[in-house]
Amino acid sequence: MIPVIAIDGPTASGKGTVAQRVADQLGFHYLDSGALYRIVGLASLERGIPLDFYDELGHLTQGLKIRFAQGHVFLDEKDVSEAIRTEEMGQRASAVGAIPQVRMALVGLQKSFLSAPGLVADGRDMGTVIFPEAVLKVFLTASAQIRAQRRYKQLIAKGISANIDILTNDLLERDQRDTQRSTAPLIQSEDAYLLDTSNLTIDQAVHQIVSWYGTVTQNK
Ligand code: C5P
Repeated sequence: MIPVIAIDGPTASGKGTVAQRVADQLGFHYLDSGALYRIVGLASLERGIPLDFYDELGHLTQGLKIRFAQGHVFLDEKDVSEAIRTEEMGQRASAVGAIPQVRMALVGLQKSFLSAPGLVADGRDMGTVIFPEAVLKVFLTASAQIRAQRRYKQLIAKGISANIDILTNDLLERDQRDTQRSTAPLIQSEDAYLLDTSNLTIDQAVHQIVSWYGTVTQNK
């Protein structure tokens, strides 16, 4: 069976960076499932579909032409890597992520990322819904204060002005929506290893996951 490492956790926990680095170290493929929800957010905005038109949003999602290549993501062959990274798209992604029709429409696409020699998948429901058979499941988190500070630094480094209080409120609101929704809520499953990165560097977090992977595969 092709191995999957599922890394789930709340927004701004550092999952993306850590998951990508784990994939690079192991020579595995990488799925950034949040990017898919962000793309649905962007496409629905561009096409003027309101967030309460569930069937239309599900239909839109089914028809999206999404392609990942060299660290970039394309929608209808247009590079949208930057456009989907805004706070607005994060909030919109969280809104469309609560819609069962949208989640259903993304299942097949997410599963199609699984190919040899292995996959590191990051998101909210990778270990619980999409890849329940994952050999290693990690629930990666950090305190809300640390996550807000990390997001703040990222934005400032990109030359985007930001306010730490607004950022903290936004991420708590997003956490609340992601954990309370009825379809595929963000939860730490019983078989997931908890990794709190509040006091860890990226290297330490990557090292921990790679070493857990070594342990679980040795025991199989
Ligand atoms: O991980 P990222 O911040 O890019 O995800 C954006 C939003 O997409 C999340 O807040 C969440 O609501 C949604 N999402 C999801 N399921 C996933 C990945 C992301 O619902 N597997």
